[in-house]
Amino acid sequence: MMNETITEKPDFDFENFTFGVQATDQMLVAKYENGSWSNFQIGPVKNISLSPLAMCLHYGQTVFEGLKAFKTVDGKVNIFRLESHFKRMNRSLERMAMPPLPASCFIDGIRELVNKESHWVIDDPEYALYIRPFAIATENKLGVDASHEYLFMVVLSPLKAYYNRPLRVLVETTYIRSARGGAGAAKNGGNYGASLLPQQKAKQAGFDQIIWLDASEKKYIEESGTMNIMFILNGKTLLTPALSDSILDGITRDSILKLAPELGLEVEERTIQITEILDRVGAGEKVEAFGVGTAAVISPIKEISYKDELFETYVEEDAVMYRIKNKLSEIRRGISPDHFGWSDLV
Ligand code: COI
Repeated sequence: MMNETITEKPDFDFENFTFGVQATDQMLVAKYENGSWSNFQIGPVKNISLSPLAMCLHYGQTVFEGLKAFKTVDGKVNIFRLESHFKRMNRSLERMAMPPLPASCFIDGIRELVNKESHWVIDDPEYALYIRPFAIATENKLGVDASHEYLFMVVLSPLKAYYNRPLRVLVETTYIRSARGGAGAAKNGGNYGASLLPQQKAKQAGFDQIIWLDASEKKYIEESGTMNIMFILNGKTLLTPALSDSILDGITRDSILKLAPELGLEVEERTIQITEILDRVGAGEKVEAFGVGTAAVISPIKEISYKDELFETYVEEDAVMYRIKNKLSEIRRGISPDHFGWSDLV
Protein backbone atom coordinates (compact mmCIF):
# COMPACT_ATOMS: atom_id res chain seq x y z
CA MET A 1 0.00 0.00 0.00
CA MET A 2 1.32 3.45 -0.86
CA ASN A 3 1.71 5.86 1.99
CA GLU A 4 2.43 9.22 0.48
CA THR A 5 -0.09 11.98 1.12
CA ILE A 6 -1.02 14.17 -1.84
CA THR A 7 -1.35 17.82 -0.94
CA GLU A 8 -2.31 19.69 -4.09
CA LYS A 9 -5.94 20.63 -4.66
CA PRO A 10 -7.74 18.22 -7.03
CA ASP A 11 -8.82 19.35 -10.48
CA PHE A 12 -12.47 19.72 -9.48
CA ASP A 13 -14.93 22.62 -9.44
CA PHE A 14 -15.53 22.94 -5.69
CA GLU A 15 -17.93 25.85 -6.30
CA ASN A 16 -20.46 24.17 -8.57
CA PHE A 17 -21.17 20.49 -8.20
CA THR A 18 -23.93 18.06 -7.37
CA PHE A 19 -23.54 15.95 -4.26
CA GLY A 20 -22.81 12.28 -4.71
CA VAL A 21 -22.02 12.03 -8.41
CA GLN A 22 -18.28 12.49 -8.03
CA ALA A 23 -16.10 10.10 -6.04
CA THR A 24 -12.56 11.10 -5.06
CA ASP A 25 -9.66 9.15 -6.55
CA GLN A 26 -9.30 6.28 -4.11
CA MET A 27 -11.56 3.79 -2.37
CA LEU A 28 -11.29 1.09 0.26
CA VAL A 29 -12.33 -2.54 -0.23
CA ALA A 30 -12.39 -5.48 2.19
CA LYS A 31 -13.88 -8.94 1.64
CA TYR A 32 -15.63 -11.31 3.98
CA GLU A 33 -15.29 -14.99 3.21
CA ASN A 34 -14.73 -18.22 5.15
CA GLY A 35 -16.00 -16.56 8.32
CA SER A 36 -13.75 -13.52 8.51
CA TRP A 37 -13.01 -10.08 7.07
CA SER A 38 -9.78 -9.68 5.11
CA ASN A 39 -7.56 -6.70 5.72
CA PHE A 40 -8.67 -3.62 3.76
CA GLN A 41 -7.03 -2.52 0.52
CA ILE A 42 -6.99 1.07 -0.71
CA GLY A 43 -6.67 1.73 -4.42
CA PRO A 44 -8.09 3.73 -7.33
CA VAL A 45 -11.88 4.04 -7.55
CA LYS A 46 -13.07 1.45 -10.06
CA ASN A 47 -16.15 -0.51 -10.99
CA ILE A 48 -16.83 -3.74 -9.17
CA SER A 49 -17.92 -6.92 -10.83
CA LEU A 50 -20.76 -9.04 -9.43
CA SER A 51 -22.50 -12.17 -10.61
CA PRO A 52 -26.19 -11.64 -11.47
CA LEU A 53 -26.78 -14.22 -8.73
CA ALA A 54 -25.13 -12.01 -6.07
CA MET A 55 -27.50 -11.92 -3.12
CA CYS A 56 -27.37 -8.14 -2.59
CA LEU A 57 -29.12 -7.77 -5.96
CA HIS A 58 -32.10 -9.80 -4.78
CA TYR A 59 -32.81 -9.73 -1.06
CA GLY A 60 -31.62 -6.39 0.19
CA GLN A 61 -28.70 -7.35 2.41
CA THR A 62 -27.06 -3.96 2.16
CA VAL A 63 -26.03 -1.55 4.90
CA PHE A 64 -24.45 1.88 4.64
CA GLU A 65 -23.18 4.71 6.78
CA GLY A 66 -22.64 8.40 6.12
CA LEU A 67 -20.12 10.60 7.93
CA LYS A 68 -18.03 13.62 7.15
CA ALA A 69 -14.50 14.97 7.29
CA PHE A 70 -13.92 18.70 7.84
CA LYS A 71 -10.92 20.98 7.60
CA THR A 72 -10.17 22.57 10.96
CA VAL A 73 -9.10 26.19 11.20
CA ASP A 74 -5.57 25.06 12.06
CA GLY A 75 -5.36 23.00 8.89
CA LYS A 76 -6.04 19.49 10.23
CA VAL A 77 -8.62 17.04 8.90
CA ASN A 78 -11.34 16.06 11.36
CA ILE A 79 -13.45 12.93 10.87
CA PHE A 80 -16.50 13.67 12.96
CA ARG A 81 -17.76 10.95 15.33
CA LEU A 82 -16.01 8.09 13.57
CA GLU A 83 -16.41 5.71 16.53
CA SER A 84 -20.19 6.34 16.78
CA HIS A 85 -20.62 5.62 13.08
CA PHE A 86 -18.61 2.42 13.47
CA LYS A 87 -20.88 1.25 16.28
CA ARG A 88 -24.03 2.09 14.33
CA MET A 89 -22.72 0.31 11.22
CA ASN A 90 -22.31 -2.83 13.31
CA ARG A 91 -25.80 -2.50 14.80
CA SER A 92 -27.21 -2.19 11.27
CA LEU A 93 -25.15 -5.18 10.09
CA GLU A 94 -26.46 -7.25 12.97
CA ARG A 95 -30.08 -6.36 12.10
CA MET A 96 -29.50 -7.45 8.50
CA ALA A 97 -27.85 -10.76 9.56
CA MET A 98 -24.49 -9.54 8.24
CA PRO A 99 -21.14 -10.05 10.03
CA PRO A 100 -19.81 -7.17 12.16
CA LEU A 101 -16.76 -5.28 10.95
CA PRO A 102 -13.62 -5.10 13.06
CA ALA A 103 -12.43 -1.63 14.11
CA SER A 104 -9.19 -2.40 12.27
CA CYS A 105 -11.20 -2.32 9.04
CA PHE A 106 -13.76 0.45 9.62
CA ILE A 107 -11.88 2.87 11.87
CA ASP A 108 -8.30 2.34 10.71
CA GLY A 109 -9.43 1.93 7.11
CA ILE A 110 -11.39 5.19 7.02
CA ARG A 111 -8.57 7.07 8.75
CA GLU A 112 -6.07 5.82 6.19
CA LEU A 113 -8.34 6.50 3.21
CA VAL A 114 -9.21 10.04 4.36
CA ASN A 115 -5.56 10.70 5.09
CA LYS A 116 -4.62 9.69 1.57
CA GLU A 117 -7.42 11.81 0.13
CA SER A 118 -7.00 14.75 2.52
CA HIS A 119 -6.41 17.15 -0.40
CA TRP A 120 -10.17 16.71 -1.07
CA VAL A 121 -10.97 18.25 2.34
CA ILE A 122 -10.87 21.93 1.49
CA ASP A 123 -10.97 24.87 3.87
CA ASP A 124 -14.52 26.18 3.48
CA PRO A 125 -17.07 26.35 6.32
CA GLU A 126 -19.84 25.13 3.99
CA TYR A 127 -17.87 22.16 2.70
CA ALA A 128 -17.25 18.63 3.96
CA LEU A 129 -15.92 15.47 2.42
CA TYR A 130 -18.74 12.93 2.72
CA ILE A 131 -17.61 9.43 3.64
CA ARG A 132 -19.82 6.57 2.48
CA PRO A 133 -18.95 3.17 3.96
CA PHE A 134 -21.20 0.32 2.81
CA ALA A 135 -21.44 -3.46 2.85
CA ILE A 136 -23.21 -5.77 0.42
CA ALA A 137 -23.93 -9.51 0.25
CA THR A 138 -21.94 -11.06 -2.59
CA GLU A 139 -22.54 -14.81 -2.38
CA ASN A 140 -24.02 -16.16 -5.60
CA LYS A 141 -27.23 -17.89 -4.61
CA LEU A 142 -30.91 -17.34 -5.28
CA GLY A 143 -32.07 -19.18 -2.14
CA VAL A 144 -33.33 -16.72 0.46
CA ASP A 145 -30.75 -16.85 3.19
CA ALA A 146 -28.03 -14.77 4.81
CA SER A 147 -25.04 -14.60 2.51
CA HIS A 148 -21.71 -16.13 3.55
CA GLU A 149 -19.73 -13.60 1.51
CA TYR A 150 -19.68 -9.81 1.65
CA LEU A 151 -17.83 -6.78 0.37
CA PHE A 152 -17.18 -3.72 2.51
CA MET A 153 -16.27 -0.57 0.63
CA VAL A 154 -15.73 3.09 1.39
CA VAL A 155 -16.01 5.87 -1.17
CA LEU A 156 -15.66 9.61 -0.60
CA SER A 157 -17.61 12.41 -2.26
CA PRO A 158 -17.51 16.22 -1.96
CA LEU A 159 -20.51 17.84 -0.27
CA LYS A 160 -21.74 21.41 0.22
CA ALA A 161 -25.25 22.39 1.34
CA TYR A 162 -27.53 19.36 0.88
CA TYR A 163 -30.72 21.44 0.85
CA ASN A 164 -30.28 25.14 0.36
CA ARG A 165 -33.63 26.54 1.37
CA PRO A 166 -36.25 25.97 4.09
CA LEU A 167 -38.47 23.05 3.20
CA ARG A 168 -42.19 22.60 2.63
CA VAL A 169 -43.11 19.22 4.08
CA LEU A 170 -46.12 16.99 3.81
CA VAL A 171 -47.28 14.82 6.70
CA GLU A 172 -47.62 11.42 5.02
CA THR A 173 -50.87 9.73 5.96
CA THR A 174 -50.93 6.81 3.49
CA TYR A 175 -47.45 5.28 3.43
CA ILE A 176 -45.19 4.51 6.38
CA ARG A 177 -41.41 4.41 6.64
CA SER A 178 -41.06 1.70 9.21
CA ALA A 179 -42.98 -0.29 11.80
CA ARG A 180 -42.21 -1.56 15.30
CA GLY A 181 -40.19 -4.75 14.97
CA GLY A 182 -39.07 -3.77 11.46
CA ALA A 183 -35.66 -2.59 10.29
CA GLY A 184 -36.23 1.17 10.51
CA ALA A 185 -33.42 1.70 12.98
CA ALA A 186 -30.91 0.11 10.59
CA LYS A 187 -29.23 1.98 7.74
CA ASN A 188 -30.38 -0.63 5.27
CA GLY A 189 -30.86 0.37 1.63
CA GLY A 190 -34.42 -1.01 1.59
CA ASN A 191 -35.65 1.64 4.01
CA TYR A 192 -34.55 4.31 1.58
CA GLY A 193 -35.88 2.49 -1.49
CA ALA A 194 -39.32 2.17 0.08
CA SER A 195 -39.42 5.90 0.77
CA LEU A 196 -38.93 6.94 -2.86
CA LEU A 197 -42.48 6.53 -4.18
CA PRO A 198 -44.11 8.53 -1.35
CA GLN A 199 -41.32 11.11 -1.70
CA GLN A 200 -41.98 11.33 -5.46
CA LYS A 201 -45.71 11.81 -4.88
CA ALA A 202 -45.04 14.51 -2.29
CA LYS A 203 -42.78 16.30 -4.82
CA GLN A 204 -45.49 16.11 -7.47
CA ALA A 205 -47.87 17.72 -4.98
CA GLY A 206 -45.39 20.59 -4.49
CA PHE A 207 -43.57 19.51 -1.32
CA ASP A 208 -39.87 19.04 -0.70
CA GLN A 209 -40.15 16.26 1.80
CA ILE A 210 -42.29 14.08 4.01
CA ILE A 211 -42.94 13.83 7.74
CA TRP A 212 -43.38 10.17 8.62
CA LEU A 213 -45.90 9.06 11.20
CA ASP A 214 -45.94 5.83 13.22
CA ALA A 215 -47.17 2.74 11.40
CA SER A 216 -49.93 1.58 13.70
CA GLU A 217 -51.91 4.70 14.64
CA LYS A 218 -50.54 7.30 12.18
CA LYS A 219 -50.62 9.80 14.99
CA TYR A 220 -47.07 10.12 16.23
CA ILE A 221 -44.17 11.85 14.49
CA GLU A 222 -41.22 9.61 13.60
CA GLU A 223 -38.82 11.15 11.10
CA SER A 224 -38.64 13.65 8.26
CA GLY A 225 -37.52 12.36 4.85
CA THR A 226 -34.19 10.62 5.46
CA MET A 227 -33.57 12.58 8.65
CA ASN A 228 -34.56 12.69 12.29
CA ILE A 229 -36.86 15.55 13.18
CA MET A 230 -36.70 18.13 15.96
CA PHE A 231 -38.77 21.06 17.16
CA ILE A 232 -37.93 24.09 19.29
CA LEU A 233 -40.82 25.45 21.25
CA ASN A 234 -40.77 29.15 22.12
CA GLY A 235 -36.98 29.29 21.75
CA LYS A 236 -36.61 27.22 24.94
CA THR A 237 -37.47 23.55 24.60
CA LEU A 238 -35.90 21.15 22.17
CA LEU A 239 -38.39 18.40 21.43
CA THR A 240 -37.72 15.25 19.42
CA PRO A 241 -39.34 11.80 19.12
CA ALA A 242 -37.84 9.26 21.53
CA LEU A 243 -35.86 6.54 19.77
CA SER A 244 -37.46 3.20 19.03
CA ASP A 245 -36.74 0.36 16.63
CA SER A 246 -38.64 2.25 13.94
CA ILE A 247 -36.49 5.40 14.22
CA LEU A 248 -32.87 5.73 13.13
CA ASP A 249 -30.49 6.51 15.99
CA GLY A 250 -29.11 9.59 14.25
CA ILE A 251 -25.64 10.73 15.22
CA THR A 252 -26.40 14.37 14.37
CA ARG A 253 -29.53 13.94 16.51
CA ASP A 254 -27.37 12.68 19.36
CA SER A 255 -24.83 15.51 18.95
CA ILE A 256 -27.57 18.14 19.06
CA LEU A 257 -29.20 16.59 22.14
CA LYS A 258 -25.83 16.65 23.92
CA LEU A 259 -25.13 20.27 22.91
CA ALA A 260 -28.61 21.59 23.69
CA PRO A 261 -28.10 22.20 27.44
CA GLU A 262 -24.96 24.27 26.65
CA LEU A 263 -27.17 26.44 24.46
CA GLY A 264 -29.64 26.93 27.30
CA LEU A 265 -32.25 24.53 25.91
CA GLU A 266 -34.33 22.04 27.84
CA VAL A 267 -34.52 18.69 26.10
CA GLU A 268 -37.62 16.52 25.77
CA GLU A 269 -37.38 13.14 24.05
CA ARG A 270 -40.84 11.60 23.96
CA THR A 271 -43.70 10.55 21.74
CA ILE A 272 -45.08 13.57 19.89
CA GLN A 273 -48.51 13.65 18.33
CA ILE A 274 -48.57 15.54 15.04
CA THR A 275 -51.65 17.38 16.31
CA GLU A 276 -49.72 18.67 19.35
CA ILE A 277 -47.25 20.47 17.08
CA LEU A 278 -49.92 21.81 14.76
CA ASP A 279 -52.11 22.95 17.66
CA ARG A 280 -49.15 24.86 19.08
CA VAL A 281 -48.50 26.52 15.71
CA GLY A 282 -52.23 27.25 15.38
CA ALA A 283 -52.27 28.85 18.85
CA GLY A 284 -49.51 31.26 17.79
CA GLU A 285 -46.62 29.64 19.66
CA LYS A 286 -43.20 30.08 18.10
CA VAL A 287 -42.42 26.59 16.79
CA GLU A 288 -39.22 25.79 14.90
CA ALA A 289 -39.17 22.52 13.00
CA PHE A 290 -36.14 20.99 11.31
CA GLY A 291 -34.71 17.77 9.96
CA VAL A 292 -31.35 16.65 11.33
CA GLY A 293 -28.95 14.28 9.61
CA THR A 294 -25.34 13.96 8.63
CA ALA A 295 -25.74 15.08 5.04
CA ALA A 296 -27.82 18.21 5.60
CA VAL A 297 -26.95 18.77 9.30
CA ILE A 298 -30.02 20.96 9.97
CA SER A 299 -32.74 21.44 7.38
CA PRO A 300 -35.18 24.16 8.39
CA ILE A 301 -38.84 23.38 7.71
CA LYS A 302 -40.98 26.40 6.89
CA GLU A 303 -44.37 24.80 6.18
CA ILE A 304 -46.10 21.63 7.30
CA SER A 305 -49.12 20.36 5.43
CA TYR A 306 -51.43 17.94 7.24
CA LYS A 307 -54.71 16.73 5.75
CA ASP A 308 -54.83 19.73 3.38
CA GLU A 309 -54.20 22.31 6.09
CA LEU A 310 -51.02 24.37 5.98
CA PHE A 311 -49.04 25.39 9.09
CA GLU A 312 -46.17 27.86 9.06
CA THR A 313 -43.23 27.21 11.34
CA TYR A 314 -40.61 29.73 12.46
CA VAL A 315 -37.59 30.18 10.18
CA GLU A 316 -36.54 33.78 10.85
CA GLU A 317 -32.85 34.62 11.21
CA ASP A 318 -32.90 34.57 15.01
CA ALA A 319 -34.26 31.00 15.15
CA VAL A 320 -32.38 28.83 17.65
CA MET A 321 -31.78 26.05 15.10
CA TYR A 322 -29.24 28.24 13.29
CA ARG A 323 -27.32 28.72 16.54
CA ILE A 324 -27.20 24.95 16.98
CA LYS A 325 -25.93 24.52 13.44
CA ASN A 326 -23.19 27.11 14.01
CA LYS A 327 -22.15 25.50 17.27
CA LEU A 328 -21.80 22.11 15.61
CA SER A 329 -19.84 23.62 12.76
CA GLU A 330 -17.51 25.41 15.21
CA ILE A 331 -16.75 22.16 17.02
CA ARG A 332 -16.12 20.33 13.77
CA ARG A 333 -13.79 23.05 12.53
CA GLY A 334 -11.90 23.28 15.81
CA ILE A 335 -13.17 26.80 16.60
CA SER A 336 -15.04 25.70 19.76
CA PRO A 337 -13.58 23.12 22.13
CA ASP A 338 -14.77 19.53 21.70
CA HIS A 339 -15.75 18.45 25.24
CA PHE A 340 -17.23 15.23 23.97
CA GLY A 341 -14.25 13.70 22.17
CA TRP A 342 -16.10 13.71 18.86
CA SER A 343 -13.17 14.80 16.70
CA ASP A 344 -10.87 12.27 15.10
CA LEU A 345 -7.94 14.14 13.62
CA VAL A 346 -6.03 12.46 10.81
C1 COI B 1 -28.33 11.84 6.17
O1 COI B 1 -29.12 12.70 6.52
O2 COI B 1 -27.15 11.88 6.44
C2 COI B 1 -28.83 10.74 5.39
O3 COI B 1 -28.95 9.65 5.85
C3 COI B 1 -29.13 11.06 4.00
C4 COI B 1 -28.24 10.29 3.10
C5 COI B 1 -28.94 9.02 2.72
C6 COI B 1 -27.77 11.08 1.92
